Amino acid sequence: MTTLALSDRRLDRLKADAMVIGLGSNDDGLVLLPGAEAIDESLGGALVAALLTLGATGKQGDCLKLVTFGQASVPLIVAVGLGSPGTDGYTADQVRRAAGCAARALSGQATAITTLAGVNGDTDAQLIGAAAEGIMLGGYTYTAYKSTAPDAALSPVGKVTILVDRARNQVATAALKRATSISEAVAVARDFVNMPPNDLYPESFALKARAFGREAGVRVEVLDEKRLLAGGFGGVLAVGSGSERKPRLVRMTYTPTKTARSAPTFALVGKGITFDSGGISLKPGPKMDLMKTDMAGAAAMIASMLLIAALQLPVKVIATIPMAENLPSGGAYRPADVVTFRNGKTAEILNTDAEGRVVLADAIARACEDKPDYLIETSTLTGAQVVALGNRTAGVMGSVPFRDLVTAAGNAVGEGAWAMPLPDEVRSAMDSATADFANIGDGPGGMLAGGHFLQEFVADGVQWAHVDIAGPSYNSGAPYGYTPKGAAGVPVRTILRAIEDAIAAH
Ligand code: BES
Ligand code: MN
Ligand code: ZN
Repeated sequence: MTTLALSDRRLDRLKADAMVIGLGSNDDGLVLLPGAEAIDESLGGALVAALLTLGATGKQGDCLKLVTFGQASVPLIVAVGLGSPGTDGYTADQVRRAAGCAARALSGQATAITTLAGVNGDTDAQLIGAAAEGIMLGGYTYTAYKSTAPDAALSPVGKVTILVDRARNQVATAALKRATSISEAVAVARDFVNMPPNDLYPESFALKARAFGREAGVRVEVLDEKRLLAGGFGGVLAVGSGSERKPRLVRMTYTPTKTARSAPTFALVGKGITFDSGGISLKPGPKMDLMKTDMAGAAAMIASMLLIAALQLPVKVIATIPMAENLPSGGAYRPADVVTFRNGKTAEILNTDAEGRVVLADAIARACEDKPDYLIETSTLTGAQVVALGNRTAGVMGSVPFRDLVTAAGNAVGEGAWAMPLPDEVRSAMDSATADFANIGDGPGGMLAGGHFLQEFVADGVQWAHVDIAGPSYNSGAPYGYTPKGAAGVPVRTILRAIEDAIAAH
């Protein structure tokens, strides 16, 4: 991963292979953003004209490389567009996205400097953090399974120095440290999702969670199939029954060293289906490979626990993470089965491909036994989420005030989120003649049916939110902003922000 540093030295005293500057677009078109004056001066004020020749607009997505022919202290300029500022100047996410684009353009370089933290004039902690996160997140690559060392030209930039007003400033260095912890956590989540399912299966996933947790000072407990049976986790066992790789339930506990007596407690739950073939209700072949991403919720919650521990949040957080592989076989659960969950409720299985909610039911019931104030669950739960909201906006359901807090947190950190209702008629469509309810509804509102199912397992008095990330968890298209191709690592930053906001509001 790229290393980062801060500097307040003058540009002509800094040596680097490249310099990243920000471009904006206003009513007059392309503008150079604050911080780029010095390099423009060394080029005789010719930068805007040169950029216009290259077709720059200053809009988001612009990413141009210019050589300086020995006229400046750096041989290469990378100019990235941020678009137009809002009423309070450029937002953190505009800077984060531009830095992400720049990071990809810097691939193969050893060193770079950037003025992106200064696009609003003064360099504040917010923009220092955003620039740092953008560079680290945008430069992410996953090469673990390439048999030959990746081309140097494709590897992330070695070191980026962020130009700031004062480098030996506590607020600035804290912002950089926090951004590094955040980016490392997002990379952990991405690595898990990108890993192929022949190597990432419930047992190996649980062992990795344990190893990461130990290193971070988080307590980890792994329930194997025997303990799942003894504990009445009928949903996890049913979904896992079709695979020779047996299911697991991982419990991660973070206890802060100092907590206020009135501090709220949090439960995190994430869907960990290491591969979702649909089971007996088998999915069609095309694009089934994408279902290696069906543990993105689990990955995000494990990564969030590591991040919470790294940042030493002053609250207790317990993650409950069900892991199973959904495959068809002679041992698999089947349509018409009735499953009994941890809390005694029963569901009639009408489609074995609606398996996420079946494992999450047990996990949510278990999580609520700890009596948390807040519960956040995230999962690649429904294709209906993608139909409704597309690939970059998560659907958020739950208790209304907390649902709205989590939604606002997502939008604040640049991870798209939209609040969704849980209408009564969607729940009544899930009524079952045999069991307490069925695991699917009658078709329309599939995302909301998923939310309703989960709600059945949330204990009274727990403020909860369900974040459906079926679309946003994985980017099958070209990289954009700080989102690479492949795993996006969402909603780790939303979780952190939501917990911090809930602490502040409690
Ligand atoms: N893992 C899928 C949902 C999914 C779809 C995730 C697309 C990522 C991208 C989930 O287990 C599933 O199969 N859901 C079914 C539910 C249906 C049977 C009620 C779906 O959405 O089709
Ligand atoms: Mn499924
Ligand atoms: Zn699934």
